[in-house]
Amino acid sequence: MLLTGVCAVALAILPLVCASGINTKKNNAPSFVMTKNNQFFSDGKPFPFTSANAYWLHQLDDVDLENTFSSIGTSGVKVITTLAYDDVVDQPPPFGAPYFQLFQGDKITVNEAGLQRLDTVVKLAEHYELKLMLTLTGNWYPSTKGVPNPKPHGFLSNSYGGADVYVQQLSTSGFHDSFYTDPTIINAFKNYVKTIVTRYVNSTAIFSWQIMDDPQCASTLPASPSCSAQTLATWHDDIYKFIKSIDCNHLIGTGDTWFYNEAAPVYPTKRGGASLRAILARMIKTTRVSTRATPAMDWGGSQLVAQPGVGGMSYRRGDPTQQVIDSGTAFIGQQAANAATWGIPIMLTGFGVVSQSSVACFTPRDSSTVVVPPPGSYIPTDKEQGQIYAAWLAETRNKGFGGTVLYQWNQTCLAKVGTNPIIINENSPNDGYTASPDALAAVELNVQLQA
Ligand SMILES: *[C@@H]1O[C@H](CO)[C@@H](O)[C@H](O)[C@H]1NC(C)=O
Ligand SMILES: *[C@@H]1O[C@H](CO)[C@@H](O)[C@H](O)[C@H]1NC(C)=O
Repeated sequence: MLLTGVCAVALAILPLVCASGINTKKNNAPSFVMTKNNQFFSDGKPFPFTSANAYWLHQLDDVDLENTFSSIGTSGVKVITTLAYDDVVDQPPPFGAPYFQLFQGDKITVNEAGLQRLDTVVKLAEHYELKLMLTLTGNWYPSTKGVPNPKPHGFLSNSYGGADVYVQQLSTSGFHDSFYTDPTIINAFKNYVKTIVTRYVNSTAIFSWQIMDDPQCASTLPASPSCSAQTLATWHDDIYKFIKSIDCNHLIGTGDTWFYNEAAPVYPTKRGGASLRAILARMIKTTRVSTRATPAMDWGGSQLVAQPGVGGMSYRRGDPTQQVIDSGTAFIGQQAANAATWGIPIMLTGFGVVSQSSVACFTPRDSSTVVVPPPGSYIPTDKEQGQIYAAWLAETRNKGFGGTVLYQWNQTCLAKVGTNPIIINENSPNDGYTASPDALAAVELNVQLQA
């Protein structure tokens, strides 16, 4: 473990220096978010929050960023979940799009000009008194080879590089999980983490680090036969300790999908029956990491992002909206029951369903192109999307969740149409999950009822 600076010295003498506790405001300066038992606290007060994911944030210019922060602030959302990684390969992206790291084989160059866009995001968060959950890497990086008119860099959440870029550039294994085990890759990732974490170590606008979005053994690159949930747990433990060694101020969690190493997730299997469960189990191969298999995480999380036509979203009989609500609330209840026994806060690190008005844009996390759901798939109307979100959010309040993250924010009236390729018709990117006005209404209601 690398130990540097004041933090490390203090750590050696006083092991409690990074321990959770409630801090209070000094001189009216905002403080860092802390946890106590199963709640978040900010400035000494409970801090239950609603967050929105806006992964494309640092791709916007100053005017569009101000516009976006202002709308998010107005909605009452307190935390924005966004990316603190943006890896490109061989050459910078076209149109002068921002990026953070350039990989040319094993040569990695940090792009200071790109990081200054992230600086602006952090400064605006401070200005608007919003907090940021910053994600340090991601699981998905599907190839765009052979895809006609691929979306520009930054349009899809899976176009920002992440684990597979490290694997493809720094190793010849061809296995996604080399990201978690190859010492050269681990060191390269820690170098990057150190660059980002030390840059913002003193910013009270950072709510938490999210180590990885959707960590799994496989991505579009396959898993090696030896990868297990323990592989991911061991890696998370190491990265967690590394970050704590350089940053005592901020919370750390990860963005895993099902919270447990479950052969089949609870959510999509309701009524799916044993065979669907078995298919799903084979598909995802016991690869989910349990955040609690790693001894130290400051909060637990799980995503509740449903794909049209998969599991619960294939219901055709009865009242499908109610069935999606019920399976989601059952999932939420199960997460809460277990988190309670561990005494840490829990959050939904992403929740989303694709509604009818966005289904033509639906691009799953492991795809770089639009996918048409199987015939007969249940696709909620926008109104039903709002009903589903309202019911799931009500259950997170009932069950004392620390926070929830809408996947994903819908920003309109962006100005840089034509010059910023991720902006289409003045709107932020839509991968099928962009919140409809009904979804936003459910989120705004949650904000009011949380307060
Ligand atoms: C953060 O604060 C510490 C202690 O005051 C200081 O030594 C360090 O240089 C600061 N880091 C940054 C990036 O401002
Ligand atoms: C985004 O919000 C605008 C304004 O409310 C709305 O007209 C639009 O339909 C929304 N986009 C999606 C994909 O629902």
